[in-house]
Amino acid sequence: LEQKSLKDIKETVDLSKLNEVRVNLLGKKGPITEVLRGMRELSKEERPKVGSFANEVRDNLTETIEKRRSELEQAHLERKLKRESIDVTLPGKPVAQGNPHVIQQIIDNIEDLFLGMGYQVVEGPEVETDRYNFEMMNLPKDHPARDMQDTFYITDEILMRSQTSPVQARTMEKHDFSKGPLKMISPGVVYRRDTDDATHSHQFHQIEGLVIDKHITMGDLKGTLETLAQELFGDRFEVRLRPSYFPFTEPSVEADVTCFNCMGEGCKVCKYTGWIEVLGAGMVHPNVLKMAGVDPEVYGGFAFGLGPDRFAMLRYGVDDIRNFYLNDVRFLSQFNKRG
Ligand code: PHE
Repeated sequence: LEQKSLKDIKETVDLSKLNEVRVNLLGKKGPITEVLRGMRELSKEERPKVGSFANEVRDNLTETIEKRRSELEQAHLERKLKRESIDVTLPGKPVAQGNPHVIQQIIDNIEDLFLGMGYQVVEGPEVETDRYNFEMMNLPKDHPARDMQDTFYITDEILMRSQTSPVQARTMEKHDFSKGPLKMISPGVVYRRDTDDATHSHQFHQIEGLVIDKHITMGDLKGTLETLAQELFGDRFEVRLRPSYFPFTEPSVEADVTCFNCMGEGCKVCKYTGWIEVLGAGMVHPNVLKMAGVDPEVYGGFAFGLGPDRFAMLRYGVDDIRNFYLNDVRFLSQFNKRG
C-alpha cells in the first residue's frame, strides 16, 4: 500500500487531485486510520509494533504529499508568471485623458490674473434668497429692473441665483474694513429663464468682481478691465465701454468686444453689429453699500460681472453657446491643451 500510494502521490499533476489523494489515504475513512482504530483488537505485544509502523507510514506519506504539493505550487506559479510576463518593448495602449472644461479653463485663467493682483476668490450658493440676489442689490420687490433677469423662483423667497452679485453682498457684510480694502472675484453658475439660442443659455457662468476701499475711482475700474481684456484677448480685439444701467451701480457701463469670428452677414453671435457684450460694471451704488453695513461716505468702489461663456466663444471662435453644455466629447476635447 505504501509503495503504491507513494507512486500515486508523485504522479499527481494537480493540486485538487493531490488533496483528494490525501483525504483518501490519511482521512478519517482512510486505511491508516482504520489500522490505528483496529489496534484495540491486537495483543499488547503487537500494538506498539503495528502502531509505530502505521505512524511511520503516515509520516512518510504526509511528507511526500507536502513535497509534491510544493512542487505543484511552484510549477503553477512558474506557468502563471510565464503567461503574465510583459513585453516592455511593445507599444503602450493609449490612455484617454480628460481635460478641464473649456469654460473652467477661462475661469482658471481669470482667477490667476486676479489672484496675482491681490484679489481673493469667493464662492456663494447657487440657490439664493430673494434678499441677497435682489433686495441687497438695490432691487426691491416691485422694481422694474427685475425684468432684466428673468428668474427661476423656487418659492417667493428662494430662487436660483440670476447673477453672482449676491456674493458681493455676502462678502461685504462679513468684511472687516479696519483690516484693509476688499478685493474679490466670485466665479460660478447662474440661471435665467431665457430661451436658449446661439448666445443665450438658461444656465451660464459669471465672474463677479468687487473692490471696496477709500478713494476708488472709475479710472481704477477702466484700468482693471483693460488689464483683463489684454490678458484674455491680447491685441486681437477691441474693447469699448458704453454707458448703461444697473440698479446696483451708478454710473454703470457695459463692455463690448469686437466679434471677430463672424463679422458681417449671417452672424448669429453679434447680430450684425460687430460687437458682443461680455461684461457689465460700474461704481457700487451707495444703497448697496449701506445695506451691507458699509458707510458710503467713507468707502466706495467698483464692481463688474463678466461672462466666461462669451469670453470662450470669442477666444475660440465658437458660434453657439449651447455647445458648452451638450457634453459632446468631440467638441470638448478640442480644448485639451495636452493635445
Ligand atoms: N450682475 C450684472 C448682470 O448679471 C452684471 C454686473 C455685475 C453689473 C456687477 C454691474 C456690476 O447683468
